[in-house]
Amino acid sequence: MRILVTGAAGFIGFHLCKKLIERKNYVIGIDNLNNYYSVKLKKDRLKILKESKFKKYFKFKKLDLKNKKNLNIFCVENKIDVIIHMAAQAGIRYSLQNPRNYLDNNIGGLFNLMEVARKNKIKKFIFASSSSIYGSNKKAPFKENFDTSSPLQFYGATKKAGEVFLKTYNYLYDFPVTCLRFFTVYGPWGRPDMAIFSFTKNILSKKNIKIFNKGKMIRDFTYIDDIIDGIIKSLKNRNKGFNIYNLGNQSPIKLMFLIKLLEFNLKKKAKIIFLDYKKTEMIKTHSSNAKAYKELNYKPKIKIEKGLKKFTQWYLKYYEK
Ligand SMILES: NC(=O)c1ccc[n+]([C@@H]2O[C@H](COP(=O)([O-])OP(=O)(O)OC[C@H]3O[C@@H](n4cnc5c(N)ncnc54)[C@H](O)[C@@H]3O)[C@@H](O)[C@H]2O)c1
Repeated sequence: MRILVTGAAGFIGFHLCKKLIERKNYVIGIDNLNNYYSVKLKKDRLKILKESKFKKYFKFKKLDLKNKKNLNIFCVENKIDVIIHMAAQAGIRYSLQNPRNYLDNNIGGLFNLMEVARKNKIKKFIFASSSSIYGSNKKAPFKENFDTSSPLQFYGATKKAGEVFLKTYNYLYDFPVTCLRFFTVYGPWGRPDMAIFSFTKNILSKKNIKIFNKGKMIRDFTYIDDIIDGIIKSLKNRNKGFNIYNLGNQSPIKLMFLIKLLEFNLKKKAKIIFLDYKKTEMIKTHSSNAKAYKELNYKPKIKIEKGLKKFTQWYLKYYEK
């Protein structure tokens, strides 16, 4: 099995490639190494893959999904039979100022990849979707069959659109599709624009942390190893057709509790500025993992206390604090 992982230099893509090559799967990673956040962090992740003792199972090419021609040639040359599509313009707040980036990468890039899948008779297509598509659903935990027609930001809209496009391609061209809705993923080598990373940075440098909705927010933070376990389980699963699964922790916590845990791990006090409710922020995310448990045997194991300890230990070491 030759697996194409898009976004291989990204947070989740990197951890996925690492796990796959350790399992002796042939992985072809691509990424355009854009500068949405530190390119050094992306290159350092790739260095680990390139220097791994399993490196013979890994090949990387800097490639932009928007380049349809090169993408197609590359996938044919490399005889890809499975696609795990992790690349995207991520981030909720950035999508308010830069919606075009999301349209071009998350819709344009996805479409080019769907065409590769169609033309090359791909055996499976796994798509990184997001909890953000649940929008302002009040009922929790969120189940896969809940209404997802009203995301609160354009980022979420591109993820919802991605699921719909893939559903149609599955119907028309028959390649099996699995959409995985990730819930706020965190851990070592994480994304600098996300709360846990940026709060840690600000606490250590004694800068203010800005919190919306006066801190009354609840998030289902999910540790990276659990997400990778869920992706691998969905890869191994032989289900046909079109499937959607939540991959969350199913244990949401209050944002203020998260800050307390960070203060404890970093042995420093946070300086918090409370801001009003912002209509693009979900008040709560809460995954129901029942479907993923039943059909994939997905069971997240890492509690937030343990996961945050691992994250802060990595952060302090990486930035030599
Ligand atoms: N991290 C989370 O909490 C979370 C939650 C829900 C969904 N997701 C989704 O999971 C996926 C991975 O997220 P992540 O946190 O690892 O993000 P990330 O930004 O770290 O990784 C995405 C990678 O894709 C690459 N990329 C972007 N556009 C590209 C293009 N046109 N061509 C080639 N490469 C391109 C980027 O350079 C980056 O390295 C994304 O699709 C994201 O939307 C993430």
